[in-house]
Amino acid sequence: MTDRNVQQAVQNIALRCEHVTVSFGALKAIEDVNYDFATGGVYGLIGPNGAGKTTLLNVLAGRQLQHQGTVRCNGDDISKLGANQRAQRGIGRSFQITKIYPAMTVAENLRIAAQIKHSRFMPFWISPRYDRKLAADVDDMLELTGLTAHRDDIAGAMSYGLQRALELGLTILPQPRILLLDEPLAGIGHHEIGPATQLIRKASEGRTVLLIEHNMDVIMALSEQIVVMSNGRVIASGTPQQVRSDPLVRSVYLGEE
Ligand SMILES: Nc1ncnc2c1ncn2[C@@H]1O[C@H](COP(=O)(O)OP(=O)(O)OP(=O)(O)O)[C@@H](O)[C@H]1O
Ligand SMILES: [Mg+2]
Repeated sequence: MTDRNVQQAVQNIALRCEHVTVSFGALKAIEDVNYDFATGGVYGLIGPNGAGKTTLLNVLAGRQLQHQGTVRCNGDDISKLGANQRAQRGIGRSFQITKIYPAMTVAENLRIAAQIKHSRFMPFWISPRYDRKLAADVDDMLELTGLTAHRDDIAGAMSYGLQRALELGLTILPQPRILLLDEPLAGIGHHEIGPATQLIRKASEGRTVLLIEHNMDVIMALSEQIVVMSNGRVIASGTPQQVRSDPLVRSVYLGEE
């Protein structure tokens, strides 16, 4: 390959882990993880409780800076960059626990996210043009998340499923190129799983996505690639079909169900 081709190949890797290890005292939460997440791929991260999934997402999001090894984004070493700097590079992350402003309305929550997105240009006085830009972002997210009819609802009073939909809207409002989702369906009622799955599918379009989810049907349906973790290591990866039929995976994980 020419230098230019090598450069392009590296840039097609949205996120790369090189020998990433995270220790909490004597415990290795992640041990020597090496993995390339290709640009535009939708990756499902699975593994038993305590396997190191959330820790790996934290490492990638810049919330776990104490680690060994290297994290690269489109070829650049971002290991030392904090969460805000990574967000500026297009890495967006949601949490296992909902992060919304519960006393504010849905639209107010989204407007704050829109202001943060445009904060570099935030003027002292809000011009009509700037105001329209914020309103357009809010309306786009209301539509995408299916929350238009709930725009004036108090966020904390909505069903848990709708709160999670809002949280996803807050996460993708800045249009991250890379989306890290930690159990976006956790705690959602049975009847809300279908719509929530569809929403994640929509939010994944055109993005590189890493999704942690314990619901096997959901993660197998949404992911192009499955990455299986156990005891801090990546023990297998492949298409949902390959992973389902991998005997090692079945014994450490799927077999437990
Ligand atoms: N801040 C911390 N301090 C000490 N130990 C931690 C810390 N965070 C995680 N751990 C430990 O690291 C290991 C991996 O935890 P992690 O949260 O990454 O697992 P997980 O795969 O996300 O599990 P779950 O499916 O339950 O969310 C666990 O043994 C956990 O107890
Ligand atoms: Mg976790």
